[in-house]
Amino acid sequence: MLFLFIFAFVGVSDGYNLLLFFPIPGKSHSILAEAYVRHLTDAGHNVTYITPLPIKNPPPLLRQIDVSLNTDLLPGSIFDVQKFMSKELDLQETQLLFPIMQELMRATLQSDQMQKFMHDPKEQYDAVIVEWLFTELGAGLSSVFNCPLIWSTSTEPHSDILSLIDEPLNIAYTVYIWGREYSLDLYSRLQHLWTIIKIKYYQWKGHDIDNEIFVNSYKSAVQSRGLKLPSYEEVKYNASLMLGNSHISCGDAHRLPQAYKAIGGYHIKDNIDPLPHDLQKVMDESQEGVIYFSLGTMLKSSRMPNETRNKIIEFFGTLKQTVIWKYEKPIANSPRNIHFIQWAPQPSILAHPNTILFMTHGGILSLFETLKFGVPLIGFPMFGDQFSNINRAVKKGFGKRFILGQEPLEKLFKTVLDMIEDSKYRERAKEFSLIFHDRPVSPGAELVHWVEHVVRTRGAPLLRSPALMVPWYQKCYLDLIYVILVLILIIAYVIRKVCTKLFTKKSMLKNKTE
Ligand SMILES: *[C@@H]1O[C@H](CO)[C@@H](O)[C@H](O)[C@H]1NC(C)=O
Repeated sequence: MLFLFIFAFVGVSDGYNLLLFFPIPGKSHSILAEAYVRHLTDAGHNVTYITPLPIKNPPPLLRQIDVSLNTDLLPGSIFDVQKFMSKELDLQETQLLFPIMQELMRATLQSDQMQKFMHDPKEQYDAVIVEWLFTELGAGLSSVFNCPLIWSTSTEPHSDILSLIDEPLNIAYTVYIWGREYSLDLYSRLQHLWTIIKIKYYQWKGHDIDNEIFVNSYKSAVQSRGLKLPSYEEVKYNASLMLGNSHISCGDAHRLPQAYKAIGGYHIKDNIDPLPHDLQKVMDESQEGVIYFSLGTMLKSSRMPNETRNKIIEFFGTLKQTVIWKYEKPIANSPRNIHFIQWAPQPSILAHPNTILFMTHGGILSLFETLKFGVPLIGFPMFGDQFSNINRAVKKGFGKRFILGQEPLEKLFKTVLDMIEDSKYRERAKEFSLIFHDRPVSPGAELVHWVEHVVRTRGAPLLRSPALMVPWYQKCYLDLIYVILVLILIIAYVIRKVCTKLFTKKSMLKNKTE
């Protein structure tokens, strides 16, 4: 009897069954996804994780579906530092990404692994969490498993994602997230408007392909479960919630819908891993401070032109500070105060009290890490949201911006010296760090809470914005204007009729009396 009892407890966990769909073959995206895995399995839920980059030692409550066959469709080699520096590659034209993402989704969703998975009647889920990146095609998984949909977004909120759960932001006072500058002057707003028109056009153009991929990816699986596939439009705008990797400490004070929850910084572990022994020693001994230089997980410092790199090395050699540079290969004969490391435990380096400056590409994960530990930064934005992330850091006063390849290096060196000398940048970083930490609960706890809330309330219908139910012409009151115009026409007509009647009567009377 007792044996049976124990068996029943071991066999089933009373957590929810949650599906994570994070199909982007990029390290920074998988860092965010693995944080979902960590928080949700720690909370006792069973997680199935669809990823091109499976975790090596999965925890007991995790199952993984490997979709690495899609890796070739978005090879890491396109993110080439040299091409960004020479402006040969410009990924700010985001509409160029639509067809790439469409094909990535087609290949992933229609792969044997995914089709087998979706057709298996044993697969049942309480909610599905889908990463948004320039496509909404993943939303169909909620139709397959007949469960609520939760979007995960990796940047500061913007119109493309907010219109999925509410409506776009007002472009009159919202800086464009994929723009290079932080400005709301007439020209910038005009540019912003033009970009939106362009994007809308490309979205409209890709609409038929989207529909075709949606139907071909999901129809058969949905039918095999005895259900009917709703239209793509319905499914796309039917999310229960959006969990955004944003926070006011490094964002703007946008108005946000109830279904948007800002959980920025949830990827950082509460307990920071200890530094490797040798690095710990180097950092402890750097009384004058440590400068940490990294271009992130996608961009390679070694793709910088040699001349640029040598000038930077030469400059670093003149400093009293220690420099830790994440670099893909060792460099011979470099000054003694520069340490090149191939793999960097970034949060642990930023957490060290001797770290005084972070030189970064400006990815949002790096921004949250630097905010968590209160380290000021110099950003070298290259693509995506990096420009707007750095621009906001500059505006808030804990960062400076430098465009590699476009500005003279002397300016960079002057900025570095200035930021070492002047303590105001470190003070600002500490102020914003306080704001980063000053929340009712940790972002990880919030993540778990809201996912559970969606399951408990069967799709959190009360959070759904009424804006999704109202057609665009009603939002602009065009229907009211129409009614008023018709009324005015009717009244004008009646008045005219009455007047002509009266007038003709009067003139007839007049004629008679004469
Ligand atoms: C929309 O979401 C709700 C809540 O999860 C669900 O009950 C409904 O079936 C969904 N509708 C469509 C068209 O996907």
